[in-house]
Formats: sequence, structure tokens, C-alpha cells
Amino acid sequence: MQANNAAINILAIESSCDETAAAIYSNGKILANIIAGQAVHQQYGGVVPELASRAHQQNILPVVEIALQKAGILKTDLTAIAYTQGPGLIGALMVASSFAKSMAMALEIPLLGIHHMQAHILAHFIDEPRPLFPFLCLTVSGGHTQLVVVKDYFEHEVIGKTIDDAAGEAFDKAAKILGIPYPGGPLIDTYAKTGNPDAFKFSDTKLPELNYSFSGLKTSILYFVQKQMAQNPDFIKDNLNDLCASVQKAIVKQLMHKFIKAAKQTGINQIALAGGVSANSNLRNELALAGKTNNWDVYIPKFEYCTDNAAMIAIAGYHKYLKGLFEPITSAPFAR
Ligand code: KG4
Ligand code: ZN
Repeated sequence: MQANNAAINILAIESSCDETAAAIYSNGKILANIIAGQAVHQQYGGVVPELASRAHQQNILPVVEIALQKAGILKTDLTAIAYTQGPGLIGALMVASSFAKSMAMALEIPLLGIHHMQAHILAHFIDEPRPLFPFLCLTVSGGHTQLVVVKDYFEHEVIGKTIDDAAGEAFDKAAKILGIPYPGGPLIDTYAKTGNPDAFKFSDTKLPELNYSFSGLKTSILYFVQKQMAQNPDFIKDNLNDLCASVQKAIVKQLMHKFIKAAKQTGINQIALAGGVSANSNLRNELALAGKTNNWDVYIPKFEYCTDNAAMIAIAGYHKYLKGLFEPITSAPFAR
């Protein structure tokens, strides 16, 4: 541990899926937040785990070096190294975990193992305004959809979740049906801006309690589109914006329905959104609206902290460091 007044400089590394990222947190600020994407997956319509691991292996050193340079921090100035421990693709996770362990051993500094989904939520503590505990967070990414009561930095209770596809997966699978390249979520959002959200109706599965299901919606979109294409091969092309707006409305409606129910059920009025799908403009607008109607304090992340990044790993690492929650060097990464 460093002396009380010395700066705490955290290097954070993220490689759980298809983004290789490094960030530096120092003196209450993110000094660098570097992300290298992987275009290689586009031609396959989804992330290919083996290719992701290889790309991480190529990207990790330059990404870390750029982050250190941008932050003006020397390796020897680092206090601790935080890395994503999981969930994620096992081969991809091993790249950041091995890199972080080697560097921490060489520099003789502590290691901080971070839960990827907790980090998405803790991104709310990077800048003001910060939510107060306990808050309710809808965490929506490509692999997870969870309603979480956040009682403290590392005390998170999942009170609802998807029983099949995640919300991001629902966006990406619907996009694939519509011939939109991976990851389709952001493009559906873009096309939906000039579409009519009430043009088409899709059936969805309504589960009791606070759980979600998106696989029925995906099937409904698939059958509807197949039927229309049989009559008009240009159906998707002719109606792309309306289709995207309608798909987006169906997903967001389902997300918001249980989110509002959870807020009422728990009585919590500190309400936050996290994960890649929190970049969705319709979801952001609907949450802001519900916040006004229900008198909630709403926390919507900045765009750069929605999708995978290492700044969120760094802030989670900082709070783990303050609590002395260090990771043993023998610790294994964990998969989804
Ligand atoms: O959190 P994230 O970057 O990675 C995981 O942890 O999975 O989330 C990625 C997901 C993808 O499914 C992507 O399509 C979705 O977030 N996404 C969006 C938008 N931006 C990213 N979905 C809808 N609208 C967006 N604007
Ligand atoms: Zn993520």
C-alpha cells in the first residue's frame, strides 16, 4: 500500500468479448480510456471466440502502452492492476488476466479481479452525479439482462433476469434477420430514428415476476419477415426503417415494463441504466420520461461508458483497492 497522500494509479484491462481496452484511473479521474475494436467478426455475423482471443493477444500491448502514454503515467508509477475476471469468453478473458498477472508480478503491485457486469454498473461512479445506495439498475448487454439492487459497491442483488436471450442479443439477432451486419444494435437504433415504431406489431412472451424473455420476440420477427418476403422479396428493403423502429419499440417496451414494476416493488427511486444497450436512444428517452412521471432520480451513463470499456474496470478496481480486496495471483478467470 502507498502512503496516505500518494496518488492511487490504477491500470485497468478488459478483454471479455471483442473489445481490447485499457484505462488509467488516477486521483479521482480517468486519464486514458483506450479501446481497440475487432472488425474481423463482422463477416461472421457474431463474435468468433478463437478470433477474438487472437485479436486480443495482438492488441493488448499497444492498447496498454497507448493508455499509459496518454495518461502520462510510467509503469513504475502504478499502484495496482485491475482486470476483467469474467463473465466472458474464456479464451478472451485469459489474455487480460495473464497480461495483468505478469505485469503485477513484475512490478510487485497488487492485482484486482473485476466482475464485468458489476463494472458496467460501477461506471456510474466515474463522474458526478453519482447514484446513492441502494439504487436499482437495469443492466443490459450482449450477454446479460438483469434488474439489480445495488446495495453497496460490491453488494449487488439480482432480482430479475432474462431466462433466454439478453436484450443486446435480441437486437443483434433481429438485425441479422433484417440483413444488418453485426453488431446490429447500434444500426437498428440509427435506422429506427426515421421509422414508424407502430408500423408492425410482434408478439412477445410475458413472464411473471421480474424476469424477461426475448426468444419469442425473435421468432415472431423471423416468421413475420419470412411471410412478407414470400409475397414481396423487397419487403425488408422497402420497410427497413419501420421494421427497425418496431423491433426497437418491442424490446424497449419489455425492458421498461419490468423496470418500472421493479422500482414500484422495491420502493427505490434512485434508478440507473448500464451495459451496451444503455446506449440505445429510445431506451434512454423512455427511462428519462419514466423518471419524470415517477419522480425518480435517473442515472444514464455517458455514451463512452455504455459499451465495453476499461474505464469501468478501473473505477471498480479503485473501489476494490480502497477495500483491500486483492486478487491472488493463482486466481482463474471465469467464463459466462
Ligand atoms: O456491454 P456490451 O458492450 O458487451 C457485452 O458485455 O455484451 O454490449 C454489447 C451489446 C450488443 O448486443 C450491441 O448490439 C448492443 O450492446 N448495443 C446496442 C446499442 N449499442 C450497443 N443495442 C441497441 N442500441 C444501441 N444503440
Ligand atoms: Zn459488457
